[in-house]
Amino acid sequence: MSERTLIRGGLVITAAEETHADVLVEDGRVAALAAHGSSAAEGWSAGRTIDATGKYVIPGGVDGHTHMEMPFGGTFASDTFETGTRAAAWGGTTTVVDFVVQSVGRPLREGLDTWHAKAEGNCAIDYGFHMILSDVNDSTLKEMDLLVAEGITSFKLFMAYPGVFYSDDGRILRAMQRAGRNGGLTMMHAENGIAIDVLVEQALAAGRSDPRYHGEVRKALLEAEATHRAIQLARVAGEVPLYIVHVSAEEALAEIAGARDRGLNVFGETCPQYLFLSTDNLAEPDFEGAKYVCSTPLRPREHQAALWRGLRTNDLQVVSTDHCPFCFSGQKELGRGDFSKIPNGMPGVENRMDLLHQAVVDGHISRRRWIEIACATPARMFGLYPGKGTIAPGADADLVVYDPRAEQVLSARTHHMNVDYSAYEGRRVTGRVETVLSRGVPVIEDRAYVGQAGHGVYLPRGVSQYLN
Ligand code: URP
Ligand code: ZN
Ligand code: ZN
Repeated sequence: MSERTLIRGGLVITAAEETHADVLVEDGRVAALAAHGSSAAEGWSAGRTIDATGKYVIPGGVDGHTHMEMPFGGTFASDTFETGTRAAAWGGTTTVVDFVVQSVGRPLREGLDTWHAKAEGNCAIDYGFHMILSDVNDSTLKEMDLLVAEGITSFKLFMAYPGVFYSDDGRILRAMQRAGRNGGLTMMHAENGIAIDVLVEQALAAGRSDPRYHGEVRKALLEAEATHRAIQLARVAGEVPLYIVHVSAEEALAEIAGARDRGLNVFGETCPQYLFLSTDNLAEPDFEGAKYVCSTPLRPREHQAALWRGLRTNDLQVVSTDHCPFCFSGQKELGRGDFSKIPNGMPGVENRMDLLHQAVVDGHISRRRWIEIACATPARMFGLYPGKGTIAPGADADLVVYDPRAEQVLSARTHHMNVDYSAYEGRRVTGRVETVLSRGVPVIEDRAYVGQAGHGVYLPRGVSQYLN
C-alpha cells in the first residue's frame, strides 16, 4: 500500500515560480501538483491531508555549510548531529552538508569514517559531507579522486588558521589542479591567515584583548586579498571552479563580482550573521561580544547593503549558516582576556529560513529569490538537485508549510539548538515554520517535533551542477 499525503490550499513557491497548487506526495516523493479546485486535484485522496490555506508550501531548506561536533579551538561545536539536525528541521531546513575534518598527517578516509560514525543513526533530516583538506600531499590528492567517486564532491581549503587547517599557495594550487581533473568543487576560506596572526600578536601585545579586536585584526582587506589570490590560483590551475565560503566584506565581494564579470566560474556564499549583525555586536560589553566571534568576522554595518545587493544581482548565489555553535558558558569563555582563544563560530542552523523570509518582508529579496538562495542553488551547487531544493514531480518530498504572517521572537529560551545563547536574542521576525516533511515523513507537525533520530540518511552527492 503506498503512503500518500496531500497538501491542500497553499501557495507553492520554488525558485522558478509561485503557483496556487495542491501537492500530492506518494512514497516519499512529490507525485504531482495541480491547481486548487482542478478536477485532477479534486480526484486525489490520501491517508493524510495537510491544510495549507493561507500558507506557503516551500522546498525544505538546504544548508550547505554546517559544523556539527567540530573540534575547534580546544573544544567541540556544541550541536551533535542529533541536536543540530533536529534544530535545522525546526527551522525548515531538511538537508545539511557538513564538513568532515581531515586531521593533519591522517588520511581523508579516517576523517570521513569518523564523520559517518557521528552522523549515522542520529540525524532527523538528510545530510551530506564536504571534506576539509588540512594536509595536501601526494596521498591525500589521490584520495580526493576516490571521495568524489563516492559522493564527497567538494573540498574546503583554508588560507586562514596557520598551524591548524591552513594550506599555503602551493598546496592550494595542487588541490585545485586535482579538483580540476576529478570534478570536485574547491571551497575556500579566504582570509590571509599569516598576516592576521601578526596583527593578533601585535594587538595582544598592546593589551587589546577584547572580542572586538577579533574583528579589527581580521581586516576586510585581508579577506579581499585572499579572495583575489584564490581566484588567481584557480585561474592558474586551469580556470577551475571556485566557491568562496562565508563572504563578509564588500571588498571581497567586489573580487568575486569582477571575476564573474570576466566569465570565471567563481561563486560566493554569505551567511545570515553578515546580513543581520555587525561589529556593533562584537563590541558588546562584559565579554558578550564573544558570542559573535566567527571567521570571517562580522563587519561594520555598511557592508550589509553590498551583501544584499550581491544577493540580488547574483554575485552571491547561496546563503548558508556556517553553523558552528559554542556555548558562551565554558566555551566562548575560553577566550576571556585573549580574543584569539575564543572558539570561532556561531549558531544559526535553525534561524536561516526565518531570517531570509524576514528579508523578503523587509524588501531585500523576492520570495522566489529566498527559495533560490536557501534551497535550489545550494542543492544545485552541491549536486543534490532536483532531489532536493525544489518541488516538482519526482523530487524528494522535503516540504515545509510556512506561515508568512505568524510573528515570533528569536530566543535561546525557545530555540532547539544545543547552545546557551541566540545570536538574534529578542529579534522579532514575521514568518514561521508550521509543518516539515522529510521524504514525505512528518518531522515537525503543527509546531511539534514528531521526527526521529536516524530518519535522516546520508546523501552521496553528484558533482556541482554549475560545472556541467
Ligand atoms: O568561525 C567559523 N566560521 N567557524 C567555523 C570554521 C570555518 O571557518 O568555517
Ligand atoms: Zn571557514
Ligand atoms: Zn564553516
